[in-house]
Parts: sequence; C-alpha cells; structure tokens
Amino acid sequence: MKNNKKIYIETYGCQMNVSDSEIVASILTEHGFENTHEVTLADIVLVNTCSIRENAEERVRKRLQYFKSLRKKRPELIIGLLGCMADRTKTALMEEEQLLDLVAGPDSYRHLPQLLAQVGTGQKAIDTILSTDETYADITPVRLDSNGVSAFISIMRGCENYCSYCVVPSTRGQERSRDAASIVREATDLFVKGYREVTLLGQNVNSYDWKTGNTAINFARLLEMVAQVSPLMRIRFATSHPKDISDELLYTIARNSNLCKAIHLPVQSGSNHMLDLMNRKYTREDYMERIQAIRRIIPGCAISTDIIAGFCNETEDDHRDTLSLMEWVGYDAAFMFKYSERPQTLAADTLDDNIPAEIKDRRLTEIIHLQQKLSLAKNQDEIGKSLEILVEGSSKRSNNQYFGRSSQNKVAVFNKTAAGEGEYIQVKISGATSATLLGEVV
Ligand code: 5AD
Ligand code: SF4
Repeated sequence: MKNNKKIYIETYGCQMNVSDSEIVASILTEHGFENTHEVTLADIVLVNTCSIRENAEERVRKRLQYFKSLRKKRPELIIGLLGCMADRTKTALMEEEQLLDLVAGPDSYRHLPQLLAQVGTGQKAIDTILSTDETYADITPVRLDSNGVSAFISIMRGCENYCSYCVVPSTRGQERSRDAASIVREATDLFVKGYREVTLLGQNVNSYDWKTGNTAINFARLLEMVAQVSPLMRIRFATSHPKDISDELLYTIARNSNLCKAIHLPVQSGSNHMLDLMNRKYTREDYMERIQAIRRIIPGCAISTDIIAGFCNETEDDHRDTLSLMEWVGYDAAFMFKYSERPQTLAADTLDDNIPAEIKDRRLTEIIHLQQKLSLAKNQDEIGKSLEILVEGSSKRSNNQYFGRSSQNKVAVFNKTAAGEGEYIQVKISGATSATLLGEVV
C-alpha cells in the first residue's frame, strides 16, 4: 500500500553499508514508501553512517547540519540516522544538537516502519539494540544506484575478531551467518535480472558457517554453490582475514573459472610487534606463507590489502617492516589509512595513541607513494595481454568509451563496440596507469 512518502537514503563507509541501505530501501518500499534520489523531493532523509575512522564521522556530522538547514525551510522533513554511528552518537546528536528525529542501529531496520510511525506522532524514535541472529535473509534488497551489472550480497553480519583498533565488533555486534539457500536464491535472482557479477560481503567471510540438517556449509562450499548459479556470473568476495584463509578456499577459487582471481587480504602492518598490539592473531611470516599459498595455488591471482600507518607505539623500524612487506608481496592495490583512535576499542582502552600527526602523515604518504609504484608495475605487466572484461558502463571521461573489469579486478577502458553493459569482451591491453588499463577490443 502506497503512503506517498518519499525516502532519500545517503550512504557512507564500506560496501557492507551500501548493502544495508539496499535492505532498508526494500523494507520501506514493502511498507508503501517510495525511494527518491533527489533530496529536495524527500519527506524522510536517512543517513547510513560509518564509524570506522574519525573523519568518516566528521563528514556525516557536516551532512546532518546541511539536512537540518533544509528542515528550517521544511519543518515536516524527518531526519534519521542509521548504521554504525547510531548507538555511539545518538545522545549527542539527538538531544544536544536537535539534529535527529530517528536513530536505528544495524540490526533494527525491520522496525523502521514502526519507528517512522512513532516520529509521525511527534515523538523521537530510537532503536539501537544489537541482535544475535538478525541476517535479513528473507529480504530481497532494492538495488540503489545500480549499474545493472554488479551487485553486493551480504552473507554474514558482525565481527568477533576484536582487532584492537576496530570499532566494528562494538557497532555491529556478534558474528552470524546467513542461510546459504537464501544467498544462492538472491544470486540466481540477480542473474535472471541480467546481473553478471556479485560480491559476497562480510567482515570476515572466511568464518562463514551455516548448518543445514547434518551438513555444514563453510565459505569455500558456499562460494562453489554460488559459482554454480551460472558460468557467466562472476563472483567476488570481501573481506578475508589472513588468519583463516584456507587452502581449501584457494583450491575452490582455482577450480572455478567464474570465481574471480583477486583476493583482498588486509595485512594492516608488516611488523610483528604492531600485529601483536593490533590483536591480528598472525605474524608477518604467517602472512607471507599465505601469500605464497595464493601464488602457488592460483597463479596470476591479484592481491590487494588494507594498511594502517602510525598505530600506537609504531617505530620507524615497524614502519619500514610495512614498506618491505608491501614490496615483497607486490600488491596490485591497497586501501591505506592513518590510525585514528576509536572509542570502545581495545586500543583506546589500553594503548596510547602516541604517534604525532606529522609522523602519521609522513608514513602514510610513503606508503601511498610506494603503492602507486607497485600498482603501476603490476598494471604494466598486463600490457600485451588479452583480458576478458565485463563491461560495466560508459567511461567517466568519454562517452565513446566503455569501462569494465578483468577477473583480477583491474579497471580497463576501451572504445565502444557493438557489445554493451553486462557483456564479456576480449580487450588487448596497450597501456597502463597506476589506476587503469587502456586497450582495444579484439
Ligand atoms: N584507524 C584507521 N584505520 C582503520 N581501519 C579500521 N579501523 C581503523 C582505525 N581505527 C581500517 C583497516 C580495515 C579497514 C576497513 O579500515 O585497515 O581493514
Ligand atoms: Fe574490524 Fe578486525 Fe573485524 Fe575487520 S576483522 S571488522 S578489522 S575487528
């Protein structure tokens, strides 16, 4: 039943949040709300937030101030906060700054229709209780901002690794896996609708674990089940924890041509001292052994990572260990951050955030420069090869060109031909920058 109320959802942070916003859109459209991409048309603005670094929170605060200014002109506008910042900041944002009408945490999205009804009666509405079993398994996400080719599927929620810098265990709660059959159904449904690539998402997909009858389905098995939806459907996943990326998983990827040959394996630091303080539960040597296993079992597999610069007590030697490990692995790509202390984490409670800002900045810059060099070298290795590219859309620079990705997750740009979005095309690579491959259709 339509209620003529239009919802505008803005998403910050990781892929998981993008996926959550699609779940929210689905729940609300089921209850008669309509989505809009135009904030000026919205009756309700929902901001899906991220707490992982301080600057992410700052961006959200600024945006909320902007929405508050819109409400001055349209007092009936409802402003809601979703996601990881919900529980942590609700009191400050709701009471002190009068910014919000509604706050809903990551496990409360099914209650949004009731919470919005409560706001309609002039009350504020808050629900940030975390669940031990909510996975939204039965909900078919509404694909927002979709290119119609690639989509995310959330396969588990929460995290219990307690890396000492990380706020996720406190904002997203206990780890739980989603019913495997519902994941395969969602992938099949996407394929039928024309999608050709899915990314299976979880904070730590390697610990996926679902029991049905007497059978236990682990992540390797789940990947193979999704791979069988169609050989034309590419499958990616994020994120893996180095401590439990198994040989079984690597052999599964090697065996199935539609399981993409790209692994994101966040290392965070190359120093054993830092890894220990970070509570990562592996050493530099363990990590190197896993990289060797990937290289042995899946030749040509791309490897990307996350790195944190300037964690507590990090010395120049620790920093150099990170640089040398980056060189040794030769990462194809990396997400690089400077450490930002988060409340309610082990590091905030027990360690001193004692690396001065200028040193964090300088170390991060060195890491970024090195990665640019490594990415360029890796991309130049592709020159002369013919790669199978899944076309995603028109290139941002030129309407006469398409862009798409290789199995190794490299972005390639090439002149348009008869093939279109969602099709596979062979492209011969003729040039490379650190971010993009250039080529011609063969
Ligand atoms: N400071 C800086 N980076 C962080 N990350 C997580 N928490 C923090 C923090 N407190 C980074 C890690 C993680 C990625 C998603 O974000 O590298 O893998
Ligand atoms: Fe955070 Fe570590 Fe869990 Fe990743 S694995 S979400 S870094 S606690």
